[in-house]
Amino acid sequence: MDKAAPTNPRLAALRLVQAALARRGGLDDALSTPAILGMTVQDRAFARAVAMAALRHLGPIDRVLDSRLRKDPPEPVRDLLRIGLAQAFWLDTPDFAAVDTTVALAPQPLRGLVNAVMRGALRDGPPPDDPRNLAPPWLLARWTAAYGEADALAIARQIAVEPATDLTLRDGANDGLAAQLEAEVTPGGSLRVRRRGDVAEWPGYAEGQWWVQDAAAAVSARLLAVQLGETAVDLCAAPGGKTLQLAAAGARVTALDKSSGRLRRVKAGLERTGLTAETLVADAAEWGDTRQFDAVLLDAPCSSSGTFRRHPDALWNARPGDIAALAALQTRLLDSAAPRVRPGGRLVYSVCSLEPEEGEAQIRGFLAAHSDFTLDPAAPGEAGAPPASLTPDGWLRILPHHLEGGIDGFFVARMRRDL
Ligand SMILES: C[S@@+](CC[C@H](N)C(=O)[O-])C[C@H]1O[C@@H](n2cnc3c(N)ncnc32)[C@H](O)[C@@H]1O
Repeated sequence: MDKAAPTNPRLAALRLVQAALARRGGLDDALSTPAILGMTVQDRAFARAVAMAALRHLGPIDRVLDSRLRKDPPEPVRDLLRIGLAQAFWLDTPDFAAVDTTVALAPQPLRGLVNAVMRGALRDGPPPDDPRNLAPPWLLARWTAAYGEADALAIARQIAVEPATDLTLRDGANDGLAAQLEAEVTPGGSLRVRRRGDVAEWPGYAEGQWWVQDAAAAVSARLLAVQLGETAVDLCAAPGGKTLQLAAAGARVTALDKSSGRLRRVKAGLERTGLTAETLVADAAEWGDTRQFDAVLLDAPCSSSGTFRRHPDALWNARPGDIAALAALQTRLLDSAAPRVRPGGRLVYSVCSLEPEEGEAQIRGFLAAHSDFTLDPAAPGEAGAPPASLTPDGWLRILPHHLEGGIDGFFVARMRRDL
């Protein structure tokens, strides 16, 4: 769609919410469709902001809607009401504009209903910021069982918080860049940037001086502590932040991913930053290469429940059965990673998941099945991990409230293979 015929940004927001809730990864795919890419920068940013506000506050919005609707409306109408309320409550859209534009997008026979629900909800004002409503109940129950009620509620509270953008620096500390970006420096050395807009226009991007990577995501590659000239393999590499870290630390890196499309992003990152790595499309569980490496990183595919600050839709798309299926895949990937570690070498396993089946249970199972590996505990403060994330077991369980301003939820463990 060209700029002369822009998509209505509210209609675009509706489509984004629908895509996000339809399936995992749906939001990212929808954001790269020609219809969305053809919009003006401002309209696209607005559509995205509306969709994100609706997804971030989906729990509280749905409670408001449930209290006002006697029976479930068709799903597209619920989605429309979601974006209407998100604009009025969290995006400073004046009430009259939120009502009018929402009613205008409703099917004719339901306009009266949409009008009444919007006006009624706006009269009552924004719903209270109760963390109990922010997460899907089944996930909140899981987090409560795993971490206790106080931590579970603190995790849920982060769902409503809009995250800053964290950058990992290719060449380490850079005060000039931090000042230019008005960035805070996190304990691990990431730059935390509050500005918005296209990152490709920020200082240092074109020169490849940094890449976008959450402060928690940067911990696992650091924990591998690769030395200059060591060999390292990143078994699930795309989009590539950890590959770039390993290459920037001076390792000779092999980066694998099952998806050729996603591996292209790794290559693009390498090209932009001027770093090098061997890149291969392969299934890490079946990769026939018999090489052994000093350092092996398995940043496994997972439920991604820890990434809800940037992907709140992941919470609403997740299903209990997915966690079990992903846990089985992670076990297979860990088993296949083990022989790739040279005797005396290290294996770091990480997932951006808050679910113990994908983290603690994997490592307990792995250590029980592989007697030639022992856990190599993280030292306090090592790898820039928040102090609260270091567990008595020696692995890292990073929870989203462990860093002021929020951080993605991650599990990270380092093992060493006996000599
Ligand atoms: C959590 S992401 C990795 C993120 C990446 N380490 C980074 O820091 O940018 C998981 C990746 O694993 C890939 N993947 C899933 N199953 C795989 C398999 N069996 N073998 C190799 N890659 C796989 C996915 O395509 C996805 O890119």
